[in-house]
Amino acid sequence: MALNGGDRNQSLLTGRPSTCRKKAATIIFTLKNEVSGLVKALKLFQEKHISLVHIESRKSKRRDSDFEIFVDCDSEHEQLKELTELLRKHTDIVEITPSDSSNLLHDGVDCTPWFPKKISDLDLCANKVLMYGSELDADHPGFRDKVYRKRRTYFADLALNFKHGNPIPRIDYTAEEVRTWGVVFRELNKLYPSHACEEYLKNLPLLTKYCKYSEDNIPQLEDVSHFLMERSGFTIRPVAGYLSPRDFLAGLAFRVFHCTQYVRHSSEPLYTPEPDTCHELLGHVPLLAEPSFAQFSQELGLASLGASDEDVQKLATLYFFTVEFGLCKQNGRLRAYGAGLLSSVSELKHALCGRANVLPFDPMLTCLQECMITTFQKAYFVAESFDEAKNKMREFARTLKRPFTVHYNPYTQSVDILKDTSNINTMVKDIRHELDIVEEALSRLCKHQRD
Ligand SMILES: [Fe+2]
Repeated sequence: MALNGGDRNQSLLTGRPSTCRKKAATIIFTLKNEVSGLVKALKLFQEKHISLVHIESRKSKRRDSDFEIFVDCDSEHEQLKELTELLRKHTDIVEITPSDSSNLLHDGVDCTPWFPKKISDLDLCANKVLMYGSELDADHPGFRDKVYRKRRTYFADLALNFKHGNPIPRIDYTAEEVRTWGVVFRELNKLYPSHACEEYLKNLPLLTKYCKYSEDNIPQLEDVSHFLMERSGFTIRPVAGYLSPRDFLAGLAFRVFHCTQYVRHSSEPLYTPEPDTCHELLGHVPLLAEPSFAQFSQELGLASLGASDEDVQKLATLYFFTVEFGLCKQNGRLRAYGAGLLSSVSELKHALCGRANVLPFDPMLTCLQECMITTFQKAYFVAESFDEAKNKMREFARTLKRPFTVHYNPYTQSVDILKDTSNINTMVKDIRHELDIVEEALSRLCKHQRD
């Protein structure tokens, strides 16, 4: 793969927008104990003229079978229905998940793509990875390393078996993995004082204190998740590979950040073609601990729920140029807050060298910018503050075509769909109650000052 700068951290969005493959359904099945079972199953796809977008086998932990077949396919609804009926004769279907534009839910909201309504619904999205951890491209630094690929399968299995409410498995990282993390940690820490935004610099020492961030220790996601919950209400969920932009953004709506847990290949510590735990821990986590940034991220996620494919694409692009590659202005100087920058030595230097193309963040224009996956970005977008970015994003979200508004309920960790007067009345009552508390606090304060 052509690289620009050698240590470019190329594709940092878990659920990158510009390379997402269109698919109509994901089918996972296990084979019955019969001769040529897989051939028979695949012939059915051919007979029904259903294109396979992606196929792989993987070790199964859900059933007694040794392995299961995972297929992304592209077809019309009717073809798919006929296929699944035939497929049941030769296989045991574990899961069929319609996705993207075919995934319609008549939930009182016409033709709205399905979306999670409560935090545990993320269990239904998080396993729909577009790529598994062990499946590496031929130009991946670890492609020829059997030990590395086995290790990646281990991480993929951990994530695939994770369910909401489980503790995140603790990893006994190898000495080689810790060395790789150490190189990334050391080189980036040289740049942070002069390149990272003040919120990042404020939170990084807290992570050292509470989550054991250090050059010779890879922090555990479980500890980080607890830390984030206390600071901003975010939690972490381990993920096996790339999620679609829709599924990834849906996590943000519930203040859940999907994180990889594996470490990049040791042969190129300052380069990774995909997000790894160094990117998540050093790039994303310090900012996720910041309440204003957490709010911004959640609003981006909430705007995506039930949005059209076209609008999800725009939101994914906005995510890319803010959460991954965003710049902000502080004390008259440009600083980075995007995780793609804060985890890439070469691009962090490039973005702030004074020669990069820096434009004001304007969602209407930013959402049209091309996301560069294999080279530095052609443009970076600068926000005055997270609050300003959030307000602009709110205005933008109002322009999206969606026949309802969603409201996050932190008590039940679910989203309320505000589509009729009864829902809205309930929310008005809640707001009144909150205002009563504010009024009472104000009157007590006034009384205290008079006394
Ligand atoms: Fe990322």
